[in-house]
Amino acid sequence: MESEIAGWLSVGFRFVHVLAGIMWIGNSLLFTWIELNLISPRKPGGDLLGHIDLLHGGGVFHLEKRLIDPAAIPVPLHWFMWQSYTTWISGMLLLISVFYLHGGSALLHPAHLDLQGWRAIGLSAGGIVGWWLIYDTVWNSKLKESPRVAALLSFALLLAAAYFLNQYFNGRAVFLQIGAMMGSAMSANVFFHIIRNQKRFMAALLAGRPHDVKYGKQAKLRSMHNHYMTFPVLFLMLGAHFPQLTSALRNVPILGVIVLALVTVKWLMNARYHFKHWLAAIFGTCVIACLLIGTLLADPTESAGGPTGAKLFVSQGCASCHQAGGSPLAPDLRGILGSRQVLVDGSELIADEAYLRESIRQPQLRLVKGYAAAMPAYSHLSDDQVDKLVAYLKSL
Ligand code: HEC
Repeated sequence: MESEIAGWLSVGFRFVHVLAGIMWIGNSLLFTWIELNLISPRKPGGDLLGHIDLLHGGGVFHLEKRLIDPAAIPVPLHWFMWQSYTTWISGMLLLISVFYLHGGSALLHPAHLDLQGWRAIGLSAGGIVGWWLIYDTVWNSKLKESPRVAALLSFALLLAAAYFLNQYFNGRAVFLQIGAMMGSAMSANVFFHIIRNQKRFMAALLAGRPHDVKYGKQAKLRSMHNHYMTFPVLFLMLGAHFPQLTSALRNVPILGVIVLALVTVKWLMNARYHFKHWLAAIFGTCVIACLLIGTLLADPTESAGGPTGAKLFVSQGCASCHQAGGSPLAPDLRGILGSRQVLVDGSELIADEAYLRESIRQPQLRLVKGYAAAMPAYSHLSDDQVDKLVAYLKSL
């Protein structure tokens, strides 16, 4: 009963999380696009900072960005923050209901199952708070004046955090955790910088003082950070669907290439109206990133016949979900061959080789009772690789 309630809660949290995330990221992308494409006024120095016309829904939206006159504060004035807070709150509830409530062991690397679950939870929660403190310190310091250095330092520190976590967490959890750290920093940017600075200048305006752009500038810098973090965070959050990347031997350098490439792609998309070759450059970035990832995926320790079944079980990410002793994420596969399996529709079967093969290639066809349809379809594996995995499963 308890696990059923937890299951339904995670359905609700996950849906709210995805929906709020779409609303938040949609806003972030649209507002930044508008900001970057504003047409400057003919006579600078006045209240008008820029304008733009957008065709949508059968009419033209004529938008102007201007300083606010304290004597005429617009009513209603819309603020944007709850999409962000809802995404963060539902994301944390999801993290708690899927990983923390079950003792945290599903976060662990198969070689570190001896680490106590509460320590894994501590690493995860501490990592989220710790990353915010580190990132915020870098961008509050003098380094802010040289944004390229600060950005490179932030990236290097993020990779260092990923290397550290990779010692204890499985690949799937490392991607998710780094995504949760970046996503939480984005929400904290909204709470501690964007909204707080907006509140500051609104309070000054209400007291009759003129619009001070100093606060707006600080808010805008963090808004731009959030904007560039959107693509990498989305990819990392979907990591569970790409086990061949998350559980690769060099998963952390791969994570680094993905983050860098996606930030570059967003930057090139923003350069679209003043850089003629933006599309070719995006294509080039993706090709280079794929080549780098391809090189990183090659395993130098592999023998001529390719990796063994046991190795594939780890490198393909099976071990992250299927842990010995079972986890809330996936069934324990020890002794699976010839065992009786109960499916979601209540029917039963005896697990033979054909069933194991099908469970790997098309897991969604027959779902085991008590588990979500969380296993990705491994249709990219060759027959030889599936044979080796099945042989390995038989030996368990
Ligand atoms: C994201 C987590 C995840 C990953 C990664 C994953 N699985 Fe699964 N697997 C599940 C879940 C959840 C189920 C139970 C639901 C179902 O039947 O699909 C399952 C079911 C199975 C079953 C059927 C088990 C039974 O009790 O009938 C087999 C066999 C299996 N997985 C093998 C593998 C292999 C081999 C890999 C790697 C190539 C793998 N899984 C990767 C989550 C995962």
